[in-house]
Amino acid sequence: MKLIVAGSSGYVAAEVIRQALSNPAITSVVGLGRRATPEPQNLEPTANIAKFKSVILKDFGAEYPDDVRKEFAEADACIWTIGLVPNKAMSTSLEEAGKICRDYPVRAVETISKLRQAAPESEAKKTPCRFLYISGSAAERDQTKKPLILGAYLLIRGQAETGVLKAAEASNGTVQAGISRPGLITANSGVVPVLQRGVMATFRQPHVRLSEITATLLHQAVEGVENDTLQNGDLVKIGQKVLGQKK
Ligand SMILES: NC(=O)c1ccc[n+]([C@@H]2O[C@H](COP(=O)([O-])OP(=O)(O)OC[C@H]3O[C@@H](n4cnc5c(N)ncnc54)[C@H](OP(=O)(O)O)[C@@H]3O)[C@@H](O)[C@H]2O)c1
Repeated sequence: MKLIVAGSSGYVAAEVIRQALSNPAITSVVGLGRRATPEPQNLEPTANIAKFKSVILKDFGAEYPDDVRKEFAEADACIWTIGLVPNKAMSTSLEEAGKICRDYPVRAVETISKLRQAAPESEAKKTPCRFLYISGSAAERDQTKKPLILGAYLLIRGQAETGVLKAAEASNGTVQAGISRPGLITANSGVVPVLQRGVMATFRQPHVRLSEITATLLHQAVEGVENDTLQNGDLVKIGQKVLGQKK
């Protein structure tokens, strides 16, 4: 199966690509970003780097060029990591944050859906494309609510979740969407740094290891989406189970 990792220069994407290259069910990994994907690091001995390709899309708001449309048409799954972490959101206008966190992924779902519905019967995919959007544990879908901290940003993330799910629902079965709602995503191993622990304790923020959320996302990409929204605790539980089975 072919997997697209959108936002391929980021922290989560690097681990998604690293694990995907060792996953025998995934035969092709496309790193899609506004700049070239950095060379995958810390690969496992079983990794197959020949499966990897970097594709650049300079402007995710512009018309997708043919090479990008082709990748989307062929993809069996897309893990969408493009977004703004809170400290970047604070220095970005709301208009821009809305484009990056909400409009880009919704448009990607709509594009995949259109491409799949327009495919000739001989090329039509039998299973829906799994579109996995990473949101955040505090995202707010209820637009009548006003979260105290970073309120407007959290409402945008909620709009994104709803938008992605609705676009998939309207896709005539060509796209299946899953939303992940992690708290802080901490390093794979070692002690969580004091500052991070302080933030998590102060804001009662849940956390998940990078390896765990990645294992969960790849499990959904390969096996399908059972539950359209996974909370932080689900990401930890499924991730640990998948990683345990691998051992
Ligand atoms: N890290 C966490 O603890 C955490 C916790 C909860 C939720 N999340 C969410 O998980 C997702 C991934 O997080 P992350 O930590 O991997 O973030 P990251 O390292 O900042 O990566 C974000 C990715 O989005 C891309 N991006 C940002 N603005 C863009 C734009 N205008 N056009 C195209 N690409 C753009 C970045 O590309 P460039 O490299 O070119 O800027 C990068 O590839 C985000 O949605 C984040 O909000 C993260």
